[in-house]
Amino acid sequence: MPDKNWFDTARFGMFVHWGHSSQRGCELSWPLVGGAFSLPYSQNIPVEEYHSTASTFNPQNYNPQEWAKFAKCLGMQYAILTAKHHDGFAMFHTQVSDFSIQRSPYGKDIVGEFVDAMRSAGLRVGLYFSLIDWHHPDYPAFTEADKPYIFGQYRQPNPAQWQRFIDFMFNQVRELLTNYGKIDIIWFDGSWERTPEQWQAKELGEMVRSLQPEILINDRLPGCGDFDTPEQFIPPQPPLCAWETCMTINESWGYNSNDKSFKSPRRIIHTLCEVAGKGGNLLLNVSPMGDGKIQLELLGRLAEVENWIGDNEESIIGTEPGLEPWQFYGPSTRRGNRIYLHLLMKPYDSIDLRGVPIKRVKSVQVLGSGMELSYTTRCAIMDSLLNGDPIGELIIKVPEIAIDPYATVIAIDFGVGNESASALS
Ligand code: GLC
Repeated sequence: MPDKNWFDTARFGMFVHWGHSSQRGCELSWPLVGGAFSLPYSQNIPVEEYHSTASTFNPQNYNPQEWAKFAKCLGMQYAILTAKHHDGFAMFHTQVSDFSIQRSPYGKDIVGEFVDAMRSAGLRVGLYFSLIDWHHPDYPAFTEADKPYIFGQYRQPNPAQWQRFIDFMFNQVRELLTNYGKIDIIWFDGSWERTPEQWQAKELGEMVRSLQPEILINDRLPGCGDFDTPEQFIPPQPPLCAWETCMTINESWGYNSNDKSFKSPRRIIHTLCEVAGKGGNLLLNVSPMGDGKIQLELLGRLAEVENWIGDNEESIIGTEPGLEPWQFYGPSTRRGNRIYLHLLMKPYDSIDLRGVPIKRVKSVQVLGSGMELSYTTRCAIMDSLLNGDPIGELIIKVPEIAIDPYATVIAIDFGVGNESASALS
């Protein structure tokens, strides 16, 4: 099996949006262009003022081993860090620019430390890289005079400038994919400001694959995507290709001290169940503060998610989508002949499964507690008489005591039948 296949059933990963702007407690990059409609808490900060915190960035409490431990406890399989966001600040040592962590008081290579910590914890590792660079003179840099930011209207460089920028950008990507050992994902962003031809997307994709043959590239490098990246939502119908929903816990990607609009732990758990039931991955964003610590509001919520995962990891991580939507009204997943039902609403007294091999039901239990649940079955009368392996309905009684306050998971084991187990769906 090609190594890339790990992504198909990974289900849960950690996105880390972090930069020098996190010291100020404002969104990453967007304040310098005056904010964005999709980021309600992103303020407008004068360009120079925004960039100025690069020279004071010194996250003394940066402890990527802690982050890795924490991701592991959540059942996460991979972690992706913003190596460079739209503001152009490199969180890694680079030979081709002075605008990096190397020149900030911290001095050490944040990307290198991150990759090492994730790898030693057994996590897959990815790097986010913004094609847009609002700081580089040849991009050209975004200035106060360019405000307001209007989608579709971007100042264009002259050809010589653009060639210099392309060389610089390719060099930075080459550094990231050469200096840190194996990288599992490169997560591009920002392609909307230029055409695929301007980005030299095809050549960039080829370079990436030649440097890291097993890497996955997201769909934001036009024409090169190994997976789709729906942002802040779950696709109503699962895409046919591999996909990953990236989502924030509040409404901001970077640490934003004004944004208290947090999702509840239950909301996060339900999102994870929905995503797993549709065969995708959830890349949940965590935004460290300027000193490297993670705010208590996030830690508290994630601790509750961790508690739930502790009992229910088996129904999410490494699973495949379960039943069809008509068979059970909620997300379900599957591992061999075991089906997991995720109850995101409280049942009145029983729940129904349709179109399943009812004589092959071996056991029905609550995943976390192992509590056995009683059930009945029904099917067409003639089928029950003449068919040794009838397809019908399974009606499971769910008493109040079985209900989990976050999401109840029920595991059903089916015996192997004469026909293939595909009779389950
Ligand atoms: C958007 C934003 C960016 C964020 C990204 C994450 O493209 O521009 O700030 O990093 O989404 O998906």
